[in-house]
Amino acid sequence: MTAQLIDGNAIARQLRTDVARRTAALKARGITPGLAVILVGEDPASQVYVGKKVQACAEAGLHSVLEKYDATLSEAELLARVQALNVDPSIHGILVQLPLPAHIDAHKVIETIAPAKDVDGFHIASAGALMTGMPGFWSCTPYGCIKLIESTGIDLRGKHAVVIGRSNNVGKPMALMLLQKNATVTICHSATRDLKAHTLQADVIVAAVGKPNTLTADMVKPGAVVIDVGMNRNAQGKLCGDVDFAGVREVAGWITPVPGGVGPMTVTMLLVNTLEAAERS
Ligand code: GUN
Repeated sequence: MTAQLIDGNAIARQLRTDVARRTAALKARGITPGLAVILVGEDPASQVYVGKKVQACAEAGLHSVLEKYDATLSEAELLARVQALNVDPSIHGILVQLPLPAHIDAHKVIETIAPAKDVDGFHIASAGALMTGMPGFWSCTPYGCIKLIESTGIDLRGKHAVVIGRSNNVGKPMALMLLQKNATVTICHSATRDLKAHTLQADVIVAAVGKPNTLTADMVKPGAVVIDVGMNRNAQGKLCGDVDFAGVREVAGWITPVPGGVGPMTVTMLLVNTLEAAERS
């Protein structure tokens, strides 16, 4: 049996329609949700990403400002900009695009963002809130994965979820979100022995490693939900995920494609977080 596709573009579109509706309602009460995006330097991928974020804001009716700085911007100047945005009432969310130039301490910059405006969910206060189940912003990519899993209609309670990857931005928060949803969670990583023995137990697998063909058909239990966070180029230069899509789709129950799966959800959850920051303000 071939897996059902989880259509990230369609789910993102539905969520963005809801964001636009709630944004209009908030505007009618005199509050326009505002996002500030800071880009330092000329990294081509970062320029594409921030462009998508600003465009998505415009399409959903949110206010956004893009602050672009030369790669020579000092750390002190950047911290001063973040502090100014922290107290700017027209701005509800602040996003500093990563990576930053090497002379700037990214941790210091992220920890300077007011937690109430940390719509990326990267601040230690946001990570701590996720860990303890307190209100706070969930980081956008794993939060988007949760929405994709929930779109299948499966209830995560008591399910066995296996996360492959332990990055601070995806693997670790992903595991905590699945735990928050009452799944039984296993985190696998580069030092895991016998990855396949773990993934074969899983009702839900999230692959977030950054390596093509990390998950192949022989590693998947029939009917499992497979979420592919990978964004890689294969030997032919074609965009591919961490999952052998052609093979795994013949075994899984549900699967996300790359592109068109997790990708469109990251920006969508940024809009959701920014709107919620404004709603709470
Ligand atoms: N660089 C790549 N992805 C992201 C993201 O989601 N947020 C930020 N701030 N930087 C990134």
